[in-house]
Amino acid sequence: MRIVPYNVQLGGYMKQSHSVRNVLLVVGLSVAGLTLTACGGGSDGPPKPPPPAPPEYADKHMPADYWGNEDVIAEGKAIYTGQQNIDVNCASCHGKNGKPVKAGARDFRQTEHMKLYSDSQWFWRVSEGVKGTKMKSWKSKLSEDEIWKVIAFESTFGLKGQKYDAEKKAWVPIN
Ligand code: HEC
Repeated sequence: MRIVPYNVQLGGYMKQSHSVRNVLLVVGLSVAGLTLTACGGGSDGPPKPPPPAPPEYADKHMPADYWGNEDVIAEGKAIYTGQQNIDVNCASCHGKNGKPVKAGARDFRQTEHMKLYSDSQWFWRVSEGVKGTKMKSWKSKLSEDEIWKVIAFESTFGLKGQKYDAEKKAWVPIN
């Protein structure tokens, strides 16, 4: 064992602990910074509704017997996951279980956000896409009927058991 004068030992120890603390502080701050950037949308306050659907989409509604219809939902799932057409794979961005796998893709599990979409707005966005984002227009690859089916499936992530009521302008229980 080396004999070191007490104050030198203490000084050395303190010096080291100081720099360790600084490193931790810097790491801590950058983690906090990253978290803030990653949550970007979350810090903007309450979720915002999408813009109103343009006139040609404003009166389009889900066929009444599609809501909660297991066969329709299964067909919608096959479209969403690319099983029906390899060129249409919503899951490649929005995630198989609705948990986005590509940054910025809408998270359909967020009930509070998704219930701000009417069925017409939802249909419009899938048909025409969202300009300036990776969400493209799907109307050349999907028929109207297929788009409704994929929406019937997608809505189960955050709005399971609910349907959009155009008169009440709200999501209500299917039964
Ligand atoms: C290449 C990645 C990608 C694919 C594939 C994709 N999306 Fe998206 N989607 C996005 C992104 C990114 C957004 C967010 C757009 C925004 O910022 O409003 C989005 C948003 C949405 C929205 C919400 C629109 C809005 O107003 O924000 C819906 C609905 C949607 N997607 C449905 C689908 C469906 C259905 C499919 C498959 C037919 C699909 N998406 C395929 C990336 C993708």
